[in-house]
Amino acid sequence: MKKDLLTLRDLAADDFESLFDRSFKLKQRRGDGIASGMLRGKTLGLIFDKASTRTRVSFEAAMVQLGGTPLFLNARDTQLIRNEPIADTARVLSRYLDALVVRTYSQDLLEELASEASIPVINGLTDLYHPCQVLSDIMTILEKKGGLDELKIVWIGDGNNVAHSWLNAAAILGFNLTLACPEGFYPRKEILESAQADRKDTIQVISDPQAAVRDADVIYTDVWASMGQESESAHRKKVFRPYQVDRGLVDQAKPDVMVMHCLPAHRGEEITGEVLEGPHSVVWDQAENKLHMHKAILERYIAIDEQ
Ligand code: CP
Ligand code: NVA
Repeated sequence: MKKDLLTLRDLAADDFESLFDRSFKLKQRRGDGIASGMLRGKTLGLIFDKASTRTRVSFEAAMVQLGGTPLFLNARDTQLIRNEPIADTARVLSRYLDALVVRTYSQDLLEELASEASIPVINGLTDLYHPCQVLSDIMTILEKKGGLDELKIVWIGDGNNVAHSWLNAAAILGFNLTLACPEGFYPRKEILESAQADRKDTIQVISDPQAAVRDADVIYTDVWASMGQESESAHRKKVFRPYQVDRGLVDQAKPDVMVMHCLPAHRGEEITGEVLEGPHSVVWDQAENKLHMHKAILERYIAIDEQ
């Protein structure tokens, strides 16, 4: 039976652990110059309906480095643009490929595609979630901080797709997560409530960024207007201004606080250039880890499908 990765809720705590273990091994092997042919003969389709640098290239490179072949499809170049049903597309592509990574707007559309596909479907970002991003982000935290249990992780800014995946991860793994979002830009109620259901003491959302970063071990931010929200950009710039991650905010966290951003970053908006390029920032290592985590994900989903 094929498995999909549509949200982090598709994973149990043990699955997270094995993905972290494997991604560290794969990072080590790449560092040692050891090639792996784990996915030789396999083909990964990538259907992208939104822009991407990191997710696209790291999944493509991961596939090549594991001995397989990636096939990138701009959704606008497929018959989807001429209204071929998503179900028909899913059924046909399942005959050609071994797995699909999909970046699109609607989570419902992704779920429909996955339900019709007979191959694993991996969420490469929707308006609602960005699960692969948060897997590699947690890998980066484990790498730099050695664990999650004693940490205070703070999200500053929009209660968006990446924030939703952080909530899912915190619900499953039980780490301490505080989000500081402007009123009206909190995460979706049902996602927050479901995360807090078992984790009332460790997951909170407030609107004061200064209070949120007190004693923070990790500060994480993301763009104020996500892809698809470009028309709201001017309004959002005003609302989110007090949520900029600048030196003053970082100075209120722990002295060894780590600053993260999934990128692309807008210097002078959600983060200052000084902080992004400064000593607390780990954003380049964070971006690199997408490659290693995506390899672990591909091995897991394509190999599981084989069993
Ligand atoms: N972080 C991330 O998903 O980047 P891209 O949009 O470049 O893929
Ligand atoms: N929240 C951002 C993440 C980009 C990787 C967006 O959806 O545009």
